[in-house]
Amino acid sequence: MKNIFILTGAGISAESGLKTFRDSDGLWENYRVEDVASIEGFEKNPKLVHEFYNMLRPMLEKAEPNAAHFAISDFERHRPDLNVFLVTQNVDLLHEKAGSKNVWHMHGRIDECVCLKCSHIFKTLGDVDFQMPCPKCGAKNLKPNIIFFGEMPMFMEKINQQLAGCDVFVAVGTSGVVYPAAGFVQVAKYYGAKTYLFNLESARNNFYFDHQITGKASETLPDFLKNLS
Ligand code: APR
Repeated sequence: MKNIFILTGAGISAESGLKTFRDSDGLWENYRVEDVASIEGFEKNPKLVHEFYNMLRPMLEKAEPNAAHFAISDFERHRPDLNVFLVTQNVDLLHEKAGSKNVWHMHGRIDECVCLKCSHIFKTLGDVDFQMPCPKCGAKNLKPNIIFFGEMPMFMEKINQQLAGCDVFVAVGTSGVVYPAAGFVQVAKYYGAKTYLFNLESARNNFYFDHQITGKASETLPDFLKNLS
């Protein structure tokens, strides 16, 4: 059975109205990454960080998946002859909303918090106050369950196993700037996978892709997945 590794980034959600990070008018235009998405920023000002994610949460929750998200969930459903491993750098839940059942959120999820004292992860409904107590241990040290710069992404052991065994590697809507995700293509290629990039423009890690399909993922990805043999 063939193994297909799919890595998605902010670009796949752009057509759902969510801002990417590094495009002009991206999310980082209005905020300093160091303030709201670094572990140092969180240590310095947890209140500001929670305010940022409280602002982001309803935007992400309201968004609806687009044709590229649906193309992936259809692919998973209609191709039981393939093993599909879906990893996203996105903290939105658009893959789940489109029907994907097994999504590996390597940079975390907007709908979860983690207690920095006891590591309990739990779902958050509505705004989070940085002084809220952990529902398990009561400590007042909650962080959005989102991987910040300076932290290890999640599920790396599982991801590395899958990269070493994949036959086809597909990256969608990601600038190839942020590691370790930007290096996945190199690992997959080293182990013999065919590598594809679906992006609006060339990515920083272009060199490692055998095929680059330039355009909107909602227009380019569906046909490719339908015809993948
Ligand atoms: N279809 C395909 N690609 C698109 C589309 C689209 N409709 N719209 C934008 N893109 C491309 C952009 O050209 C850009 O190269 O998506 C890419 C998005 O890049 P980034 O904003 O850098 O997002 P991403 O690669 O997911 O960022 C990685 O960095 O800031 C951190 O943790 C954050 O998970 C994020 C990580």
